[in-house]
Amino acid sequence: MYGQGTFEDGQRQPAVGTARLAHFYDRLDSIAYGGDYNPEQWGPETHAEDAELMRAAGVNLTTVGIFSWAKSEPAPGAYDFGWLDAHLDRLADAGVAVCLATMTASPPPWLARLHPETLPVMADGTRLHPGSRQHWCPSSPVFRQYAVRLVEQLAKRYADHPALALWHIGNEFGCHISRHCHCEVSTAAFRRWLRARYGTLDALNSAWSTDFWSQRYGDWEEIHTPRTAPSFRNPTQRLDYLRFSSDELLDCYRAEKAVLDAVTPGIPVTTNFVPLAPTLDLFKWAREMDVVSYDSYPDPHDPDSVHEAAFGYDVMRGLRDGQPWLLMEHAPGAVNWRTRNGRKPRGRMRLDSWQAVAHGADSALFFQWRQSRGGAEKFHSAMVPHGGRETRMFREVTELGTELADHPALLGSVPERAESALLLDWPNWWALEQDAHPSADAAMLDAAHAHHRPLYDASVPCDVVPVDRDWSPYKLLLVPNLYSVTQETADRLSAYVAAGGTLLMSYFSGITDEYDRVHLGGYPGPFRELLGLSVEEFDPLPEGGTLRFGGGGEGTLWSEELTLEGAAPILTYADGRPAVTRNAHGAGHAWYLGTRPDPVTMRAVLDRARLDAGVRAPEVPLGVQVRTRITSDGRRVRIRLDHREGTVTVG
Ligand code: GAL
Ligand code: ZN
Repeated sequence: MYGQGTFEDGQRQPAVGTARLAHFYDRLDSIAYGGDYNPEQWGPETHAEDAELMRAAGVNLTTVGIFSWAKSEPAPGAYDFGWLDAHLDRLADAGVAVCLATMTASPPPWLARLHPETLPVMADGTRLHPGSRQHWCPSSPVFRQYAVRLVEQLAKRYADHPALALWHIGNEFGCHISRHCHCEVSTAAFRRWLRARYGTLDALNSAWSTDFWSQRYGDWEEIHTPRTAPSFRNPTQRLDYLRFSSDELLDCYRAEKAVLDAVTPGIPVTTNFVPLAPTLDLFKWAREMDVVSYDSYPDPHDPDSVHEAAFGYDVMRGLRDGQPWLLMEHAPGAVNWRTRNGRKPRGRMRLDSWQAVAHGADSALFFQWRQSRGGAEKFHSAMVPHGGRETRMFREVTELGTELADHPALLGSVPERAESALLLDWPNWWALEQDAHPSADAAMLDAAHAHHRPLYDASVPCDVVPVDRDWSPYKLLLVPNLYSVTQETADRLSAYVAAGGTLLMSYFSGITDEYDRVHLGGYPGPFRELLGLSVEEFDPLPEGGTLRFGGGGEGTLWSEELTLEGAAPILTYADGRPAVTRNAHGAGHAWYLGTRPDPVTMRAVLDRARLDAGVRAPEVPLGVQVRTRITSDGRRVRIRLDHREGTVTVG
């Protein structure tokens, strides 16, 4: 699967990914560089300057049309693409490839006027209004019909356009309307989805535990999306609604993709994901994409955001099992949507872009090419700022473009497979973060970051894997808070360790099944034997509370009453109770963290687990990251990011 070859017709074959990605790679000479381009916001003099500045900056790809529906279909069925023809032709002439958006992210105002029923409804019944963006109900057949019609027009018109490199469906599915359409249409769609999942009402009643609080349903029509209610809503209803919401948006994506696949079968398709969020089950989505795309906005004011970005990139690389991915958006400088928007000092943009490439990105694309004059994003940075070409920003943009172009072999090169992996599962994420739990502090992203961080600080690469993948290539598997788990996955995790793997699991794991029903017989249910212990009671800590360990350091957030049934204590609390344990299981070892050790102790625990696993760390100081990509001719390119100095070396 790894390695890059050439198709018989001479086209370059992507190292990993679908065959039609070759079309994308063929249009580029090096890492894709550019950004969202919205020429409809500008006049002809600016367009001429755009072409000149793109050339100067080394831009080779722009994403066009994301918010162009109103311009391209000013009235229902009255399509006008003349304006776009001119731009695509100009870009093709300038040697700039185009990632063409399907324009469906934001419908024109006329859709809401003619069909107010396409507007989404929140859990409390409030209908959202147009005037912003993404104001559409994911279940609306009317919206989908208009969207698909538009996509058909676009695909037919530009099928053979020389600039067309890649399709970009919608934009950031679920960014603004993720899980809150509760309109009648969505409710009916939810019922259909439930019928397909459960078949009978009896099965649903059993899965949802509806004998609790007199919730037993006698008719499908009685079931609603989880709308605002007097107290806690049924957790399994909520869980299914989150699954449904992800699936419903995926259906919108699929409807557009089906048109593109039919009209332009040779052009690869993507959509861009928002910075890591619970909204969409990305492992499920990624199966239906030729290449995964990601938008990333680390906060320059927050030093931890550098690591959090790295984790997001590891997830993107994991979605299609090590395939390079596209950084579709990041900011050259400040964003405009935080309370206080830090700028990026000199060198930071370059470091951010290279960080993504080091973690497997085949692009460094920005939001956006030219800073808008009006509208809600006029204070968001862009490659060409309000001040124009004579600015620090544009000079740095030009330097970076030139530098990336100097490393052509990186495009399509394969990120080296890590020896460690972290298990991430969206349905578990949803289940873990339900309300009415022992503590609100058991949160998925926080847990994932805390487990990934010690490896990151040691510059040890870590892949991110789903529950249904073969984990045997990995020596070390981190399993933070796997609260909801099927017996089958639990059995596979045990088999992984029995076969010699090292697993590190943390508290509040193995608690419920996929319907959020508790695995009976004592916590942590299906993991008792693997971990060699049982948990009698949870004892979450008060806000900010800590528990001293005997040998120094402290536990935070959570603790539990552990009974060891074979596991050896590695760390104990000051009163002698076990906090962190290790159990030999078959040929491997299973570690268990009954609390969240402070970062220094966490690093020490991970170092020891790494020793068990035989995972070595490179000799680099804290603050330096080294990642390797392997080029088609087998060359190993090392990218060294020095976050202390703000420098990058490639070679
Ligand atoms: C993204 C979005 C872009 C732009 C950007 C600003 O979420 O896809 O259109 O709004 O944020 O940071
Ligand atoms: Zn709806």
